[in-house]
Amino acid sequence: NLKGVDIRAEIDRLRKERNAVILAHYYQKPEIQDIADFVGDSLDLSRKAQATDADVIAFCGVRFMAETAKILSPQKTVILPDMDAGCSLEDSCPPEQFAAFRAQHPDAIALTYINCSAAVKALSDVIVTSSSAEKILSQIPKDQPIIFGPDRNLGGYLARKTGRDLILWPGVCIVHEAFSETELLKLKAQHPGAPVVAHPECPAVILDHADYVGSTRGILEYAMAMPGETLIVATEPHIIHQMEKALPNKTFIGAPGADGNCNCNICPYMALNTMEKLYVALRDLQPRIEMDEDLRVKAKKSLDAMLAMAS
Ligand code: 13P
Ligand code: SF4
Repeated sequence: NLKGVDIRAEIDRLRKERNAVILAHYYQKPEIQDIADFVGDSLDLSRKAQATDADVIAFCGVRFMAETAKILSPQKTVILPDMDAGCSLEDSCPPEQFAAFRAQHPDAIALTYINCSAAVKALSDVIVTSSSAEKILSQIPKDQPIIFGPDRNLGGYLARKTGRDLILWPGVCIVHEAFSETELLKLKAQHPGAPVVAHPECPAVILDHADYVGSTRGILEYAMAMPGETLIVATEPHIIHQMEKALPNKTFIGAPGADGNCNCNICPYMALNTMEKLYVALRDLQPRIEMDEDLRVKAKKSLDAMLAMAS
């Protein structure tokens, strides 16, 4: 029973007592973004997790992100406010099936999106994030066959952009799949001239209407530099919190789903984390990411390759 507990003050007290750093993704609730020591995209959060000298990492994001922090910083205690905070892309790619897919393409290397389990990372050669994928792909010889998973939308986008032939795993993000082209076109008609920004996890029918495609950090940077007054944002709408904080006089509109509003595009996994659960996690140092050491070492190889190639 947390009645009467000043959650915000307790989080502040506990983070000092525990020497904890609070890392949050841009898709977290505004109050979590505001209390975090650092808010970032997947690549920046991985780098922070690796570089921090805190004893505890309180990871406000989804499980694969907290697992990544643990893989890179095994001596640290990594807590996740809700252990059920998964990801549909991770769910779409069970390791046994991914191993069979690899076996069908023995000449190919596996370039894998960070949105996957530690077991799939261990089966991969190089991990990418949406902000590092193009740079990493450009360092792989043109004649090298490549498997790309689990996001077929990001993979398709990379293939079109670079002219490379990628062998795609058929996974999707349920959040970015939910945008409606018809509703987006209606919204564009209501706001003539307003640019559209989109995350590459969106299907091609949405990306085709985007003026800018990029990671969450890239999308934010675009917003900060835009000359116009209104921006249509085709990614998880909690990122708009940072835009409104920095540019309170501009208008940011979340791209709609089939029902005409953007609430269906809230990531249900990210939304499991709350301030109350963050407080309890810092208090109890649970739920905590634990990982088999053999698996961790195998998964770290592909993550290290990413960090080296993305820098
Ligand atoms: P970013 O790397 O762009 O932050 O993306 C993470 C994610 O899960 C998008 O759905
Ligand atoms: Fe996974 Fe999509 Fe949620 Fe990102 S937005 S964590 S890809 S389900």
